[in-house]
Formats: sequence, C-alpha cells, structure tokens
Amino acid sequence: MTRIGFGIDVGGSGIKGARVDLDTGEFIGERIKIFTPQPATPDAVAATCAEIVKIAEWPDAVGITLPSVIKNKVVLSAANIDPSWVGIDSHELFAKHLPGTDVHVLNDADAAGVAEAHFGDPLAKSGAVMMLTFGTGIGSALLIDGVVFPNTELGHMIVDGQDAENIASSRIKDVEELSYKKWAARVDKVMHEYERLFNPTVFVVGGGISRKADKWVPLLTIETPVVPAQLRNRAGIVGAAMAVEAGLHP
Ligand code: BGC
Repeated sequence: MTRIGFGIDVGGSGIKGARVDLDTGEFIGERIKIFTPQPATPDAVAATCAEIVKIAEWPDAVGITLPSVIKNKVVLSAANIDPSWVGIDSHELFAKHLPGTDVHVLNDADAAGVAEAHFGDPLAKSGAVMMLTFGTGIGSALLIDGVVFPNTELGHMIVDGQDAENIASSRIKDVEELSYKKWAARVDKVMHEYERLFNPTVFVVGGGISRKADKWVPLLTIETPVVPAQLRNRAGIVGAAMAVEAGLHP
C-alpha cells in the first residue's frame, strides 16, 4: 500500500501544499499554491494553510514548515516573516484553523534537509551532512545518517561582523546585483567558516539558486564535496509530509 502524507511549505511569497508519496518523495496530484497573505501574520497564514487542506480534500495529519525556530511547538524566531509569530504556540494556532487535524510544524530548512537526505543525492543519505538553502535568508539543516538535529540557524552565524545571510543569501545577490562570481566568493567565505567549525562529510546546497548550481558551485574552494539539492522546490513540502510520520516535530 502506498504511504501518503500531506506537506505545506510556508514561504515569503507563496504557501504551497501537496500530497506526497512517502516511498518515492514524488507528489501525488497537483501542488496547490496560494500567495502568502501580507502581512503574513500567524492567523492569516494558518487560515491559508487550512484553505489548502480544504482544496486538497485532505482528511489526515499535516506537516507545515515555517522559516522559524520551533521548539516544543512554540515559534521562537521570525527572521523573514511577520514578527508577531514570535512566541506563538503553533499547536494552539493550527488547532483553531484546522480543528481536529494533527499538525506538525517544523523549520523549513530542516524539512528540506530531511527530504534531500532521503530522496536526493546518494552522498546526502549518510554521514554528517550540512544542508544549506539559499533564498531570502540562508537556512541550514544538520543531519547524521538522515536524522536531523533541529533548529540550527547557521544563516545567522556571524561572518565578517555580519549575519552570514546578510552577505550571501540569494536575496542579497539580487539586491546588490552581484555577478555569480562575486556572490560565489561570498558564499565561499561563509562555507569555509561552516567547514572549519563543523567538518561535514558533504554540503547539500538548495534554494531556487541551486537550479543554476553549475554557475557557482564550481567556483567554491572548500575541500568538502558540495552537491546541489535534487528535489528543487519539492523539498520543503516533502520534508513536511515526512515529519508527520517520523514524528519529527521538535
Ligand atoms: C531563518 C531560518 C530559515 C531560513 C530559510 C532564516 O532567516 O532564521 O529559520 O530556515 O531563513 O528560510
């Protein structure tokens, strides 16, 4: 029997959900996308998640990612979403909008990391893996043999006196109109710091910009192998759906 889950990925511009085949990591049916309400307050986002579940006619537990630290179900940070998320009990919030539904909330990069470790590059399946997602911020997931150590916030590690994501996210590349070469030099600097302190066996690089990995990954000078993420924009949804079954919610 096919094991099926449902995952929702909350991003800065879109909230996306889909049924996921948990044996293959593929979507079953269509991905549903609704633009992220602005301001992206907890109630507005939770209502949108409920809308997606309703459209999909999904009757069971749901995994939901947020770009936040989530400890004991409480949202502890809100780097690129509405600040009113901080301190919110995710369990209570979603119980209000999805009554009777078991909801598992986890960090977006953690979800992506878990998905990549299971369905991505073979190098990511075992060992000490560091997944990095380059987008509005830099998300991170540390995995050992596919099991995540949740809520690492390495995008906020201080490099050259600044948050790493303020020098090397893909948003910064756009804002400062950096060439791939200039941006890769910044990513390289940040990844040298991660390598020096964590010594992973492999880096997995994700986020939209990993689609153009050939333009910047070869420019990196770190010793550790770097592989592009393979699930593309599926990773968050797949990881969220997996979290339900694995009880991965921190
Ligand atoms: C947030 C992380 C998140 C990452 C990617 C960072 O700014 O602090 O929690 O995983 O962005 O969205």
